[in-house]
Amino acid sequence: MMKVTVYNCRSFDEKELFEQYGKELGIELILCPDAPDAENAALAKGSECIDIITSKMPADLLKVFADYGVKYITTRTIGYDHIDVKAAKELGMTVANAPYGPCGVADYAVMLILMTIRKMKRILERTNIQDYSLCGIQGRELKDLTVGVIGTGRIGKTVLKNLSGFGCKLLAYDLYESAEVKESGVPYVTLEEIWKNADVITLHAPLTDDNYHMIDQEAISRMKDGVMIVNTARGGLIDSEALIQGIESGKVGGAGLDVVENEFGLYYYDHKSDILNNRELAVLRGFPNVTVSHHMAFYTDDCVKTVVRDSLLGCKYFVEGRENPWEVA
Ligand code: NAI
Repeated sequence: MMKVTVYNCRSFDEKELFEQYGKELGIELILCPDAPDAENAALAKGSECIDIITSKMPADLLKVFADYGVKYITTRTIGYDHIDVKAAKELGMTVANAPYGPCGVADYAVMLILMTIRKMKRILERTNIQDYSLCGIQGRELKDLTVGVIGTGRIGKTVLKNLSGFGCKLLAYDLYESAEVKESGVPYVTLEEIWKNADVITLHAPLTDDNYHMIDQEAISRMKDGVMIVNTARGGLIDSEALIQGIESGKVGGAGLDVVENEFGLYYYDHKSDILNNRELAVLRGFPNVTVSHHMAFYTDDCVKTVVRDSLLGCKYFVEGRENPWEVA
């Protein structure tokens, strides 16, 4: 029976699904609750495939797995920038992802947009202490605003659809224009025009070498005063220090961040008694107009079921030498 070693397997939502799909697909599973490292890599001995989440997979760790005979790495995520794909290829390993439907993240992005324009963080903080005053919590209405959507792939397109009912003006930017988006009446504009015209900017592009810190001090200086920025894509798209300065100066009116720079090792663990070394996160979290969540826009019932099932199905296709729609490199 083929074997798959699963890392970061969560007992409260994934374990039962893994057991169910493992049985259905005829796969023996080794379920490890921890992130893959040089020590627990030995669990993958005898497994051609490993199944991971967002923990870093640098070249040296990949080599350890390759030496144990691992040939296929699937990540139960859409993004795969945490895996050194070039190194994996050089080691003869195949990399795959497990995309789930875009609706969970798209809903969440719209929620963060609404929370940001309606100052929801401040409102919640007040009701928690029975401060029912109104001063400082006046919001804005989407019908009066222009929303710039950067990245119009699966999630960006769904966000555009979701937002179309609110009566806001929509602008899109992508390296590749989608006919579907254009037919829906949303114009593609340059980044410069997004910076100049958008009251709200929402990010839905993957992090690549070319767009690292695409929102930096320079970009922020070109934006509208009071601009609100929502990031449910990847932390590295925004220079945190520039965002902090933008919030402090008032140039940026608010932000909703499901992702931040240097979140690896922090997210999905309970750190409440720990001293953390991510100062930018601490500062951003402290602002009353910045809502931070821990990279969980994806986290719905539908999503977890899909990634567990499809990551295992991809392993099966790989081992059986069948065409595998989830291979990314
Ligand atoms: P997708 O691949 O369907 O779409 C990405 C779009 O971004 C494509 O149209 C692509 O042409 C465009 N793009 C690439 N580079 C760009 C650039 N420099 N500027 C503008 N557009 C660019 O991906 P999908 O499914 O829509 O996901 C988007 C991103 O959302 C993922 O790459 C991932 O980083 C993030 N994500 C975050 C989650 C969360 O829980 N917060 C969950 C899932 C995805």
